[in-house]
Amino acid sequence: MTNRKPIIAGNWKMNNTKENAEKLLKELIPLVADATAEVVVCVPYTAIETAVKLTKGTNIAVGSQNVSWADSGAFTGEISADMLLELGAKYAIIGHSERRTMFGETDETVNKRTKQAIAKGLIAIVCIGETLAERQGGITESVLKTQILGGLKDIPASDFDKIVIAYEPVWAIGTGLVATDEQAEAAVAYTRRELAALIGKKANEVCIQYGGSMNASNVDGLMAQPNIDGGLIGGASLKAVDFARVVKFSA
Ligand code: 13P
Repeated sequence: MTNRKPIIAGNWKMNNTKENAEKLLKELIPLVADATAEVVVCVPYTAIETAVKLTKGTNIAVGSQNVSWADSGAFTGEISADMLLELGAKYAIIGHSERRTMFGETDETVNKRTKQAIAKGLIAIVCIGETLAERQGGITESVLKTQILGGLKDIPASDFDKIVIAYEPVWAIGTGLVATDEQAEAAVAYTRRELAALIGKKANEVCIQYGGSMNASNVDGLMAQPNIDGGLIGGASLKAVDFARVVKFSA
């Protein structure tokens, strides 16, 4: 960790009805009230309004798990940035590996969604990461490079104030297999070098998160790494006590 403000975001994925969201957030709010990190919960669309109302006046921001590249129109099943902003969302996850593998998300669509999100005033959490086969094949860096160059294409350096990168090795997501501190730091440091090639010194200001089985027992070591500025947390964000411990990491 450095002087970049850490951002710890929960990605609830397709979990929690409004009723459960309310319970979880009511428990979470007091537990993280004194956190120094920026705290974000990326909740299902149906829980955004509830989450925004409940967290009003607290230090928790609310995000979505996707956003359309279009303003409006014939895009069945999509949601627009204006719709999210109207509900009070501040962040949007873009290009999560589950969307890439199950729903046809590509670097090109990630790029379009990211541009739209930041143009509208959302903060984009752009996800990248290699599969196990890619890591074993020794092509982690070239996979990350392709995702960075494609997903962040033609975005000026000044817009990176509104972009967070989440490095999430696919093999570590939901598997309990966390990357070692060294593996995570190496990939995140590589990501920052590639960002520097793209946007120069501004790369030093960009928050890069690690995600993939991050939890209360491994957060401190990961957050102690010089290039890791935060976390994108799946499973451990569904329990208030666990997520609060991650939020209040000590590095
Ligand atoms: P887990 O923390 O459950 O491995 O999920 C990580 C993730 O995909 C966050 O976006």
